[in-house]
Amino acid sequence: MTPLLQINNLKKSFLQPNQGLFNRKKTPIIKDVSLSLYQGECLGIVGESGSGKSTLGNLILGLEKPDSGKIYFNGQDIGQRAWRKSPMRREISAVFQDYNTSVNPYFTVAEIIAEPIYIYDKLTASQLKKRVIELLEQVGLNESFYHRFPHEMSGGQLQRICIARAIACSPKFVLFDEAVSSLDITVQTQVLSLLVDLQKQLNLTTIFITHDLATITYLCDRVIFFYQGQIVEQVDKIANLNQVNNVYSKQLLKSILGF
Ligand SMILES: Nc1ncnc2c1ncn2[C@@H]1O[C@H](COP(=O)(O)OP(=O)(O)OP(=O)(O)O)[C@@H](O)[C@H]1O
Ligand SMILES: [Mg+2]
Repeated sequence: MTPLLQINNLKKSFLQPNQGLFNRKKTPIIKDVSLSLYQGECLGIVGESGSGKSTLGNLILGLEKPDSGKIYFNGQDIGQRAWRKSPMRREISAVFQDYNTSVNPYFTVAEIIAEPIYIYDKLTASQLKKRVIELLEQVGLNESFYHRFPHEMSGGQLQRICIARAIACSPKFVLFDEAVSSLDITVQTQVLSLLVDLQKQLNLTTIFITHDLATITYLCDRVIFFYQGQIVEQVDKIANLNQVNNVYSKQLLKSILGF
């Protein structure tokens, strides 16, 4: 079986800021990362701040270009020009931590959710409205939110809108980068249970980047421990999480859980 997402020997470095014009050294941020993810799987990525998790996510989303290495989605190389025009592009989607800056404050909920649908599907106005309401209901909201603006909603509601937008074009793969981290704990739990439902309903393949181990144990089938741009450990069964060997994974678990 072909993995839905296959990453081979990915490397990425960035120029260090605030250096002189003639002294511009690149710092490696992603150092030879390879992984594969199969349809329906949920992979957690944990690692300390600055270890390169979001950079890896941005590479997968095509927001950054790797220095070397390849990313294949359903067997198709996303680094190739052909990918930009591929209908498969809509199958990759994302939800980020900062729901406030993820949406245009002058857009209504309807406009926010409809935006990706406009790009990919030709729907009539009434079909579009029906689809937006269906998506609102899928994320536990309803038609009463249709005309609201972002500032008229709570953080949890706005993050649900971002999730509705992320699934609007029926993606196969969704990357969640700290998507529930800035919500308070009860709202986090609600959004997490929504995500579990959606994952099952839509048979999504997902990557969860998070500092929060509870999120990982709740949602993920497998976990990758990330340290200084490298995978230092993989746990293939969530139940074995406390049996990690690597010194950094142990440290990370200790800092999060206290064991
Ligand atoms: N576009 C960029 N240009 C220059 N440096 C960058 C860029 N993006 C990320 N970096 C640097 O790469 C390193 C890794 O950043 P990244 O955001 O991937 O970390 P992270 O693991 O997601 O951290 P956090 O858990 O805090 O979100 C950081 O030192 C960051 O400053
Ligand atoms: Mg990050």
